[in-house]
Order: sequence, then structure tokens, then C-alpha cells
Amino acid sequence: MIPLIATTLLLASSALSVGAHSGARKSLSFGPKHPTAKLNVPSGRVDAASFGLGKRAHCGHEYDPKEVAASFVQSLYGSEAEFRIRADSYIDDHTGVSHIYVRQLVNGVEVMDGDINVNVRDGQVISYGDSFYRGSAPTYAMDPSSLLEPAHDQAHHCEALSSYLTSFLAVPSGQLTLTPDHPTPEDAEFLALLQAHNCHTASLEAGEPEQLVDPSVSALNFIVLAAPDAEVSAALKENYGAHLMTLAVIPTESLTSTAPAVEIHDMPHTTGPVKAELAYVQTPHPDEENTTVLNLAWHLTVPMEDNAYEAFMSATRANRLISVVDWVSDAYVPIPKHPKKIEPTYNIWTWGLNDPTEGNRSMVSGYDKTASPFGWHAMPSSASPYVDHSAKPKIPEEDEDPLLNFTTTWGNNVFAHENLEGRNEWEFNQRPDAGSDMVFDYEYLPKVNFTNTSPREYLNLSVTQLFYTANMIHDIYYRYGFDEKSGNFQQHNFGKGGKGSDAVICNAQDGSGYNNANFMTPPDGQNGKMRMYVWNTAKPWRDGDLEAGIVIHEYSHGLSTRLTGGPANSGCLGWGEAGGMGEGWGDFFATTIRSTSTYQDYAMGDWAANRPTGIRNYKYSLNMTVNPSTYKTLDKPGYWGVHAIGEVWAQILWIVENRLIAVHGFSDTLFPPEALANGTIPEGDFYRPAQYDAKGKRLPLIPKNGNSLAMQLVISGMKLQPCRPSFFDARDAILQADELLTGGENKCEIWKGFSERGLGPEASLKGGTPWGGGVRSDDYTLPKGVCGVDDDPEDDPEDERL
Ligand SMILES: *[C@@H]1O[C@H](CO)[C@@H](O)[C@H](O)[C@H]1NC(C)=O
Ligand SMILES: *[C@@H]1O[C@H](CO)[C@@H](O)[C@H](O)[C@H]1NC(C)=O
Ligand SMILES: *[C@@H]1O[C@H](CO)[C@@H](O)[C@H](O)[C@H]1NC(C)=O
Ligand SMILES: *[C@@H]1O[C@H](CO)[C@@H](O)[C@H](O)[C@H]1NC(C)=O
Ligand SMILES: *[C@@H]1O[C@H](CO)[C@@H](O)[C@H](O)[C@H]1NC(C)=O
Ligand SMILES: *[C@@H]1O[C@H](CO)[C@@H](O)[C@H](O)[C@H]1NC(C)=O
Ligand SMILES: *[C@@H]1O[C@H](CO)[C@@H](O)[C@H](O)[C@H]1NC(C)=O
Repeated sequence: MIPLIATTLLLASSALSVGAHSGARKSLSFGPKHPTAKLNVPSGRVDAASFGLGKRAHCGHEYDPKEVAASFVQSLYGSEAEFRIRADSYIDDHTGVSHIYVRQLVNGVEVMDGDINVNVRDGQVISYGDSFYRGSAPTYAMDPSSLLEPAHDQAHHCEALSSYLTSFLAVPSGQLTLTPDHPTPEDAEFLALLQAHNCHTASLEAGEPEQLVDPSVSALNFIVLAAPDAEVSAALKENYGAHLMTLAVIPTESLTSTAPAVEIHDMPHTTGPVKAELAYVQTPHPDEENTTVLNLAWHLTVPMEDNAYEAFMSATRANRLISVVDWVSDAYVPIPKHPKKIEPTYNIWTWGLNDPTEGNRSMVSGYDKTASPFGWHAMPSSASPYVDHSAKPKIPEEDEDPLLNFTTTWGNNVFAHENLEGRNEWEFNQRPDAGSDMVFDYEYLPKVNFTNTSPREYLNLSVTQLFYTANMIHDIYYRYGFDEKSGNFQQHNFGKGGKGSDAVICNAQDGSGYNNANFMTPPDGQNGKMRMYVWNTAKPWRDGDLEAGIVIHEYSHGLSTRLTGGPANSGCLGWGEAGGMGEGWGDFFATTIRSTSTYQDYAMGDWAANRPTGIRNYKYSLNMTVNPSTYKTLDKPGYWGVHAIGEVWAQILWIVENRLIAVHGFSDTLFPPEALANGTIPEGDFYRPAQYDAKGKRLPLIPKNGNSLAMQLVISGMKLQPCRPSFFDARDAILQADELLTGGENKCEIWKGFSERGLGPEASLKGGTPWGGGVRSDDYTLPKGVCGVDDDPEDDPEDERL
């Protein structure tokens, strides 16, 4: 069975009562997994010297990692290979590894899923994932750019519509089509309607490849597919011609290639212009295993009220949606350097308290000065999308950009506010204003005799709590390496690389849904958006903003999406195992952050959902009876969805982490010590003793305890793994992170953790296709040569089972 279904949230709904607008957000995410894209560790030494590259001083490194990556790609694909080094490549301070992202081009057009992530350290290629297209370049009779000239006219539409009519051909499995192979009477009516557009279709033979579909047709067809419900979709089809004619198409320039690009304005059901750019995208070869074919496609970026899609519509068959990622991820499928004069203080449930049942509120202050040099309430005026009335600009010194201080929940990392109306606008939504003393202290009054609006009565507290939690997450992830150059979320980046203008927009008590939460992650340089909902699962109703685990889960989508496949690629965790891990990491971090030195099993979202096992099937537990998930669990019915897959991944990571805790102990804080006045970060009790390289330079510090080390390895692993990783790739990336950071000291424990839940070295997926399916096998053994397992194949491996 191929999971190409629109993942409406109601599937699997059972135990929870679901409110009127409850999680009915429609979200499409599907596409093929590339047969060749897996994490490879070169067996021999592949380094600058082997490419004949000379040493040159490059940011303190002896070799330019981009040059090494380019030579490496040429060694794989020949000197004629067409590619570009993506601008979101960076050197990671924690591991010293350069993450170089190489994007393939064919005929000067980008292959949007043709990427090689080359991980380079000291001039050496230590690992890479490769999803380049390996066949020959297609040729066309028609120059794609001719499509845009002359500007959009009637004849043009006709051409496109004609091609639409030729498109009801065999469609490779796994793709969504506007009308099925066997059209219903309604489909036939729609086709007739298109024909009535008076376009000349006679000359078009089925399958003729050079016909390019008009981008506005592709975009409108996508909207028909993605429309929030069937009625909207039917209405669009009924007035198809009229809709098409009202679209305004404005040519723009592609930032990365010479391919034609346009902006399409006035598209129904969108919240801004749709961007369309000609690109290639790969699909599995229908007959040849491990081979892909190139499809010319319109690469669409589509902002909608409840979704932000990156979609690929075939540019030669107007009804084919090839792949799509929704940058918005839901919480779950309902089972149903300037110390401030005035320190802001917040009366909130402090970091580590998961929800109001875990402790009382207290007045706290503080932010991490390394992660947030200006604190949480200030930014240069040029970085603010809107200048708060209450902000008092500093008098600028000469050309200096004035630093604005805000007395509301508005700052460099997070914009938090109510969104009771569930609208898309957010800039002028209400935020608590703490005034000049900066005391954010509001009442918490959950009414026993609830009304639907009960949580509204403590709205200012909710916004404050959300602002606090989201900023803490920004700061803690920063300290483990989710910094400016790796694509974190900040308005202003302090000249430290990456793109700014992307603080997280946090909507508290968002009126667009109930009993859920979601997060949108566009590429670096565009704001992330978190929407937190009220839960009607208990009386009085509960506010998801007050459950830190849910906020952490959501923000972690931003972390994993930006770190996997590079900051500028938001399409790497869309579906399948990759999409599932996108959910799993969030649960893993939420659970890790709330856990204490006394071991305990934890549920996810149990307070908000008012359900002891929370919003997943099982609690996270070391006990096989309490949580029986293993790798093979993914074969079970009900486990095709990303949340169920994620639960298995989070459970496996929980085991791995606890093995590390058993060896290295538990750190009561996950926050590393603050930097000293001279910028040096002290080891404190948090890090292992510092190590120095041959030249006496201090190497990056490594957390010493099991929980803090697990956080580091998982985050560093995300940077190493390729786009669309499998469980195997993510496991191997964590092992490589340990190799880089500790010299592989924890190899045995990490393998034991993975093997305990079936993800040993011989675990396999047989008969899987790029569109899914297949049968998984658990493996509980350990690799040869690890944990003292004998290398000698004649030894009985049974003895070494865990
Ligand atoms: C395809 O790749 C898989 C996994 O690497 C391999 O087992 C299989 O033999 C390959 N098939 C062909 C036809 O190359
Ligand atoms: C909160 O404080 C009250 C009294 O001050 C105490 O009775 C209660 O147990 C505390 N709640 C929690 C969850 O710690
Ligand atoms: C704004 O905050 C910065 C530090 O965050 C401080 O140096 C500056 O004096 C403040 N400006 C005003 C006008 O309060
Ligand atoms: C929340 O705070 C704002 C600004 O500080 C204030 O105007 C508003 O009345 C408060 N709302 C509630 C419900 O207390
Ligand atoms: C809630 O309402 C019930 C009946 O409607 C009433 O008996 C009870 O006293 C109320 N409780 C509170 C705390 O107001
Ligand atoms: C595992 O959980 C089951 C069910 O709760 C319990 O009976 C058993 O004692 C637990 N095992 C261990 C080792 O704690
Ligand atoms: C920074 O200060 C600390 C403590 O004063 C000192 O031990 C360390 O050597 C200093 N580091 C540098 C790079 O100056």
C-alpha cells in the first residue's frame, strides 16, 4: 500500500473528543525516497591530497572544504558534472565538520532533489549522502523559457489546457492526479468544461513530451488538489476557466538558476503570491530498480491559511502532482553581549516543569547570553518587522542601527501573541505589555465552571509562558549547535552567518483549531510559525501553551528541518521514515528536557490531552511491556503515518539515551555554563575536560553526562545525515557524531541501544520501493568488532545476543 494519502488528522481518531474546528487541517505530504540517497562513509581516505588540492588558509582550515567537496563530486560524476555549491553550506563549530550542500543542475535547470551533502573535516570527506540523478540529460525541442514570452495570453492558456487534456495517461504509482485513471461522470464533466474553452487540441498526441504546461495552470491545479475540502475543490473546478483568467502572472528571476520563474497573484485560497520556478525532480524509474527518471516540473511555493506547501507539479502533464511537502507539521494525529539594566521577570512554570501539575509557578528571569546576546526583548530596528509603540529607540551613534527594546513579548527570537481569531495576521495581535519594570506577572484562573472562553481569561499568562518556553528552546538548542549559520530562527544574526528575518511567530490560543498544535518551517530567512491550540479534553479546558512538551515538540520541527539537508532545504523530512523521525525527535527532546535524575516513564501531551498515555500509543519506557516498539513495528497496520513512525524512533532514542546515562550519569541541567567575560566557555561541571589540538587550540567542548551527551549527538547527527534520511541513516549519523566528538568511545553503548529495539547492523527493509512498502526485519545483534563481539565469523553469534 502506498501512503500517498492526504494526511487529514482525523484518521486514527478514537479516544479524544474533537471540537468543532478540531484538527481537520488537511495536509499533503508525499513523494518518493531516492534509492541511492543514504549515508555513505568512504572506506579509504578521500581527502584534499587525493584530489591534488594544495593547502590554503581558509577560515583557519588548511583546505577549502568547498573545493574538496567540488573535487569529490567530480570524482563521482566526472569533470563535466553540472552543479553548484549551495550558499547554506557551513562549518559546524561543535564538530569542526564542514557541511557542504551540492545541488545538481541539468540543462542549466536545478534538480531540486539532486543533492549531495558532503561532510568534510580537515580536508577529508568523512561521509556523504548522494541523491544525484544518474542518467543522461533529457533534450527538448522547445526552449522552456519561451513559455514566458510573449506574456500570458489566451492562446497560451489554450495550449496549456490542451496539454491538460492529453495528460490522462498511465501515471507512475504513488502520484496524485487531479482526476483518476477512470474518470467519474463529474471528472468527465470537468474535462468537457476544459474542452469548451475553445482550445485547439487536435495536434496534440498523447505523450508528446515537449508541451510545457503554463505555470498558472499547474498552480491552479495544485490548489484544486490541496483545497481544504471537497466542496472547495469542486467549486474551483466548476469555475476553472474564470479562475484561470483572473490570475496575474509576473515573471521574476530565479535566485539560483537560469530557469524561468514567475509569481502568480490572486490565486484563490492562498495568502500571498504563489512562486513557480521550472525545475527537475526525480521519480523512480518504472522498470529499472535503483534508477530514477527526471521530470520537468513547476516548483511551486504556495502559502495557504493552514499550510505552506512546496510542491512539484509536472510541467508536461498538467494533472500530475509529483511530490509535495507541507512545511507545517502538526503535533500529532489525535488518537484522536549587553547585560540589561532591567532584567525582565516572568511568573511562569519554569523550565523543566512540563505542565501545571508538575509544580507551582515562580518569578524567574534570565536568558542565555551566548545564545541571545541582546536578551529576549531587543533587536536592531532594521530587524524588526514592525516597531512597537512602546519601544524606546536608543539614540543612534552615527551610522549605528538603533537597538530597540520592547516591553512586550516581542524580541529577536520569538514574537508571541494571542490569535483567538485564528487569522493569518499576527503583527498587531495583542501581547502583554509589562511596562518599564518588565514584570510579566498575570493571573492563572482556570474556571471550574468553565465556559468556552475560560482560557481566554488568562491569555496574558499563556502568551508569557509561550514566549518564555520558546525562547528557552531557542537558547538551549543554540548551545548544542543550532546556531545562525546552521539556520536557526532569529530576526538579527549578529553577523554570525545564516539568514536573519526569521524569528518564530508564536500564536497562543490560536482559534484555527483545537486539541493540537503545529509548526511551519520554511527555509532559512523566512519566519517559522507555531500555532498552539486550546484543548477541550477536560473541564475546565486546558491551554496547550502551558504544556512545555508540546511547545518543545513543535519547535523541534524547526530544528530538525533546518539541520537535515541544509538550512535552505525544507523538504527533507516530508513523509515516510524521514517525516516520522521529524515527529520523533520532537517527542525525544520534550521527554529528555522534562526528565529528572530519578528515572521515570513519560507520556507525550498527557496533561493537555487529559489522558494518562498522552497522545501516542505508548509511554516512552525502558520496559518492553510498557512500550513494545521495535523497528519492525513500522510494518504494522496503522504505522504508515508520521506520528506513529515518530513514536517508534523516539522510543529507540530514549533507550539509547538511557544507556548513555547509565555510563556517564545524569546532568541536572541541560544548559551549558555561560561564557566568561573574555568569551571563553568554562568547562564547569558540565563539559568534559577541554582537549587541545597540536597547535594548542582548544577543541569544541563535549558534554560529559549521558543526557547532555545524547542531546549533542542527536543534534550533531542531524547535520551529518542526508536529505530524506531513513532510520538507518539517522542511526549511522549519530554513531558518526560520536566518532567525531568522542573518538567513538560510546560506539558499544549506542549500538546496544539501537539493537535492543531491533535496529542492529543487520536490520533490513526488503522489497521496499521508493514509494514505500516492504518488509522490515529486526536485528538484535551487535556489529563485529563492537563491544568485544568477536571478529571471527566462526564464533557462534547467538552467544552475543543481548
Ligand atoms: C538496488 O539496491 C539495493 C540496495 O542497495 C540492492 O540490494 C539491489 O541489488 C539493487 N538492485 C539493482 C538492480 O541494482
Ligand atoms: C503549589 O503550592 C501549594 C501551596 O503553596 C501546594 O499545596 C501545592 O502542592 C503546590 N503544587 C505543586 C504541584 O507543587
Ligand atoms: C536597550 O537595551 C540595551 C541592552 O539590551 C541597552 O544597552 C540599552 O541601553 C537599552 N536602551 C534603552 C533606550 O533602554
Ligand atoms: C493583557 O495585557 C494587555 C496589555 O498589557 C492588557 O491591555 C489586557 O487588558 C490584558 N488582558 C487581560 C485579559 O488581562
Ligand atoms: C458550579 O456550578 C454548579 C451548578 O451549576 C454549582 O453547584 C457549583 O457551586 C459551581 N461551582 C463553582 C466553584 O462555582
Ligand atoms: C515492566 O512492566 C510490566 C507492566 O507494567 C511490569 O509488570 C514489569 O514488572 C515491568 N518490568 C520491569 C523490569 O520493571
Ligand atoms: C579567559 O578567562 C579565563 C578566566 O579568567 C582564563 O582562564 C582564560 O585563559 C581566558 N581565555 C582567553 C582566551 O583569554
